[in-house]
Amino acid sequence: MVNLPGMNASPIRCLVSAGPTREYFDPVRFLSNPSSGKMGYAIAEAARQAGWQVDLVSGPVALADPPGVNVTRVETGQEMYDALAPLFATCDVLVMTAAIMDYRPAEKAPQKVKKDQLDMSVRMEPVMDVLKTLAQRKRPGQYIVGFAAETNDLETYARGKLLKKKCDLIVGNYIGRAGTGFQSDQNTVFLFAPNQPARQLGPASKVEIARELVRLIGEGRGTKADSGE
Ligand code: CTP
Repeated sequence: MVNLPGMNASPIRCLVSAGPTREYFDPVRFLSNPSSGKMGYAIAEAARQAGWQVDLVSGPVALADPPGVNVTRVETGQEMYDALAPLFATCDVLVMTAAIMDYRPAEKAPQKVKKDQLDMSVRMEPVMDVLKTLAQRKRPGQYIVGFAAETNDLETYARGKLLKKKCDLIVGNYIGRAGTGFQSDQNTVFLFAPNQPARQLGPASKVEIARELVRLIGEGRGTKADSGE
């Protein structure tokens, strides 16, 4: 049997999170955000097409499972962490596109709150930072990509998140601008990596941006491995 170079190499294991999370204050009402999940699903699909083995953990979205991708559906931030944690232990690449709610109601009523009973001020408590928590367990060779959605001062905030969340790459985008961010099929993103100038991708479709991102992540992993990190 001929043994071609690279033939036995196992595929890159890529873990992607996508979509919004929901934090309930009673069984029928929740706080959330308008994330459509399109960017994360496009990345999962592009990674699969690149021959990677892909797990996708998704909040509630109206998108079909990308072909060939193992999908776990969750609702809350805690459920997202619980689904990601065991998969993170064995993945090579983590891409956190999920728009995880930072706060949740401190109490969840066991039954539907009737409108005349609702206390109009809902006390909130923080939801864990999933990315930061996972990155604390980062193994040598693991490559972590975070996202940063900002209305202003993108580079300053994105570079701060690069350090705080121990990421190898932050993909930043502006929200609240036409043709970019939540819901849109198009996007313009800015890439921030340690000791490198910012780089712009797009405007382009989320599918095209996803393909280029997967290519760059593959390249970035290679460079990191070459540097012996
Ligand atoms: N993230 C996370 N857990 C959270 C909030 C965010 O893992 N509770 C991840 C997101 O998936 C994203 C990155 O952290 O990859 C940055 O998310 P973003 O909402 O831009 O920033 P925050 O950390 O929430 O900070 P802030 O809201 O103050 O900008």
